[in-house]
Amino acid sequence: MKIQELLQNQKYTQKRVLENLICHFLDISREKLRTSLEQTIEESILKKITQAYDDFVVQKKPLEYILWYVKFMGNKFKIDHRALIPRPETEYMIQAVNEHISILNPWNNILFDIGTGCGVLWLSVLLHNPSFFSEAYLSEYIDYTLSLAKENFEIFKNKLTKTNLNLVKANLLDFIDPTKFISSQLILVANLPYIPEDTFNQNVWETVKNWEPKPAFVWWEDWLDYYRKMFQQIFDFWIKPTMFLEMMTRQVDVLRKEFWKKIEFQEVKTFHFNIRIVKAWIK
Ligand SMILES: C[S@@+](CC[C@H](N)C(=O)[O-])C[C@H]1O[C@@H](n2cnc3c(N)ncnc32)[C@H](O)[C@@H]1O
Repeated sequence: MKIQELLQNQKYTQKRVLENLICHFLDISREKLRTSLEQTIEESILKKITQAYDDFVVQKKPLEYILWYVKFMGNKFKIDHRALIPRPETEYMIQAVNEHISILNPWNNILFDIGTGCGVLWLSVLLHNPSFFSEAYLSEYIDYTLSLAKENFEIFKNKLTKTNLNLVKANLLDFIDPTKFISSQLILVANLPYIPEDTFNQNVWETVKNWEPKPAFVWWEDWLDYYRKMFQQIFDFWIKPTMFLEMMTRQVDVLRKEFWKKIEFQEVKTFHFNIRIVKAWIK
């Protein structure tokens, strides 16, 4: 079948989606598509395009899971049902980290990414700052999610040879030996599940509910317990990381009220009225 014929087929009502899929599976730009309408699409490729169209339009599967990648801060990361799809608002966290470390001494710095998902925050910070960290740790609690982070690590590890890299299955920070980090500068990034269950059930799109892993969004008992637990680990270990966290706007005030004696919270970036990137440090 020719590209032109496929595009004119009445069955495919969402032409923009169809065009994007044709470009993706033929590995051509949109400009090239316009000048290639007479090109014949191989049977095996045609099958992939029409299957992907059905998955997206009929099954409402997220496009990133269909294409198996997500673009984040200029890099392409592998993504599938094992992890939450990184959201554009979280890119602001990487910008905030980049701004923070641009004025620091590039010596004896250690990075933690807690609740790494597909590994996107950890790898993005490292790829943007390949000489800054002497060591970097990511932690993830769910085995199948950690396996995806490891696959992304394999893709990028050759670009990160200046850092000693550690991928661990852990409950938040429970893997660390605090004595190791006494004289180091610690940077911690975390986008822990913070969506209240009611909000998830009532306000989240069906495509998210049906396809993405619920434990990546929701903490069943109390939507801020992950952050509370991580702060307690930090107090118990006597470490003093500079933290970059994502949460909902009203949650910043809740945490500020609870932890004002020990932690300073500063809202550094906002994507829209409801989501905040927060920089926090131990007083
Ligand atoms: C909201 S997702 C964030 C994923 C990724 N960091 C991002 O920003 O796109 C939260 C991640 O935390 C993980 N997680 C949940 N509980 C955890 C725990 N106790 N320790 C470590 N990771 C945990 C989830 O499995 C999930 O992958």
